[in-house]
Amino acid sequence: MRISQIIAGEKGLSRTDVIAAVCLALDLTKEQLFRHMDREIAGDDLGAVQKVIAERAAGRPLAYMTGTREFFSETFSVNEAVLIPRPETEVLVEEALALIGDRRDLRVLDMGTGSGAIGIIIAKHTGNRVVCVDISGAALAVAHGNARSIGVEERTRFVCSDLFAAFSDGTRFDMILSNPPYVADDEWDSLMADVRDFEPARALRGGEGGLEVYRRIAAELPRRLAPGGSVLLEIGSVAQAGSVGAMLGEAGLRVSVIKDYSGRERVLAGHG
Ligand SMILES: C[S@@+](CC[C@H](N)C(=O)[O-])C[C@H]1O[C@@H](n2cnc3c(N)ncnc32)[C@H](O)[C@@H]1O
Repeated sequence: MRISQIIAGEKGLSRTDVIAAVCLALDLTKEQLFRHMDREIAGDDLGAVQKVIAERAAGRPLAYMTGTREFFSETFSVNEAVLIPRPETEVLVEEALALIGDRRDLRVLDMGTGSGAIGIIIAKHTGNRVVCVDISGAALAVAHGNARSIGVEERTRFVCSDLFAAFSDGTRFDMILSNPPYVADDEWDSLMADVRDFEPARALRGGEGGLEVYRRIAAELPRRLAPGGSVLLEIGSVAQAGSVGAMLGEAGLRVSVIKDYSGRERVLAGHG
């Protein structure tokens, strides 16, 4: 069967997904694939293509199959232990970079680091040292590997902790960044199956209203944020903007909301 026929004949997936699946199975770049649309695929190669297409059709995210995802122009390794970094999280990173400017002496925390996406980009672009925390040791192993491959191992530290539990009482940060789990319990069943069935529940589920982890982080801010420091929290819904804003206000912070490029509330900022 020709590559062009495989692509045209696959009705269960988008064209983009089929092309990506064929490239992955045959170890081709997209450019190579487009140059060889007439190539005949048979035997083991055809079996490999069919297997990858079937996995994708069953909902397995392509990033877990390729083992990589681009974030802020860097290639992050990913596996089922970590959330696949999302483009919308770049809004939080851009805001953090703008706030940091050219300061090099800040104590930065990435709470719930997952693949390390936020903390590693901040370490890379600002030269600051970043502490990356996660409750999952398997996620931290992925993040540590990414810090090494992206060249910021010396500026990053990885700590396995339930939020701030591993830090001694006096430990404070100038900047606390987090994209916490924020899917509300009552939204779980209606979540896209690709996400719900394949990405780690601990990275997604935020309890009632999706607010559980925000509430716990906000309660710690008065003793974890250094004077004059800032916290940036990604949020998942407009309703969360109100609730999380109120929590930051109660923690004594000046609150602002940052919207994404589609005009949707995406990040809550609190300034001390
Ligand atoms: C939504 S993911 C964000 C991952 C990454 N920061 C990103 O933006 O792609 C949330 C992360 O928080 C971690 N997490 C959940 N509960 C936690 C807790 N109590 N303490 C520390 N990390 C936690 C999860 O393991 C997961 O890696």
